[in-house]
Amino acid sequence: MCNVKDKVIVITGAGGVLCSAFAQELAKYGAKTALLDLNLIAAQKCADVITAAGGKAKAYESNVLDKEGLEKIRAQLHKDFGKCDILINGAGGNSPKASTDKEYYCDGDLNAEIKTFFNLDKSGFSFVFDLNIMGTVIPSQVFIQDMTGRKGCSVLNISSMNAFRPLTKIPAYSAAKSGVSNFTQWLAVHFAKEGIRVNALAPGFFVTQQNSALLYNADGTPTPRTGKILAATPMGRFGKDEELLGALMFLVDETKSGFVTGVILPVDGGFSAYSGV
Ligand SMILES: NC(=O)c1ccc[n+]([C@@H]2O[C@H](COP(=O)([O-])OP(=O)(O)OC[C@H]3O[C@@H](n4cnc5c(N)ncnc54)[C@H](O)[C@@H]3O)[C@@H](O)[C@H]2O)c1
Repeated sequence: MCNVKDKVIVITGAGGVLCSAFAQELAKYGAKTALLDLNLIAAQKCADVITAAGGKAKAYESNVLDKEGLEKIRAQLHKDFGKCDILINGAGGNSPKASTDKEYYCDGDLNAEIKTFFNLDKSGFSFVFDLNIMGTVIPSQVFIQDMTGRKGCSVLNISSMNAFRPLTKIPAYSAAKSGVSNFTQWLAVHFAKEGIRVNALAPGFFVTQQNSALLYNADGTPTPRTGKILAATPMGRFGKDEELLGALMFLVDETKSGFVTGVILPVDGGFSAYSGV
């Protein structure tokens, strides 16, 4: 059970794998879901699934980096559903332009035709920092305005395992998610007196379109990285999307987590607890 009936929940990145599952679950409990995504077709597909099941959803084409665009969506949201009660900052991701080819730098790499730390493109870092950090900050600026002076409102950000300890090859994404966790705590403190709770989920490893090329070869066999991840996950497997839903429902449900704010909750099969020995 999740007490979100008639709550207006804005979800960014709602056309994606994890957030479309979040939206569908929250709509089952009577939430009015506003599905924001750069990819309107994906968001609309999720809205169609929800409405076909009798839930409430509306898709909005939006860029989390475009404050004016988000303000227009907020005005439209007020007409469609009312003020935002809960914001889920789900849009995020990495870029191959900000990933090294190898885990460790070795002598001679500089002259090889590979992406080393030294030749990573600044635009790759900027893209990843913008999408994950500013893509959390800007929607928060826009939609938390709806929450001030009202009860039962909260924000849920999506951090990552990278935030606790960086993963190899993806320096920008690791630093950016660390920033998301830090910003979650800052925001939680800043809005505590208003009663607006701010928390984050830190998913472990879930296979999605973003990371599937890193985890599986084209022929479907697992990559060496998959072997390392599973060896470092005490539960010995990837997470299933639905295994994030309990943590999601706990953190957005005021009646269950009304005194929980500033928390980064790992859902990771023990990955963040394991030293490797
Ligand atoms: N999949 C995992 O294992 C995993 C693990 C940890 C954290 N995460 C985080 O969870 C969140 C969701 O991940 P996912 O795997 O479902 O990703 P996904 O790629 O399936 O979905 C991301 C969605 O965000 C949208 N998007 C991208 N840029 C946008 C922008 N500028 N404005 C609005 N929408 C934009 C995309 O169109 C896409 O629909 C992300 O923040 C991701 O970093 C994922």
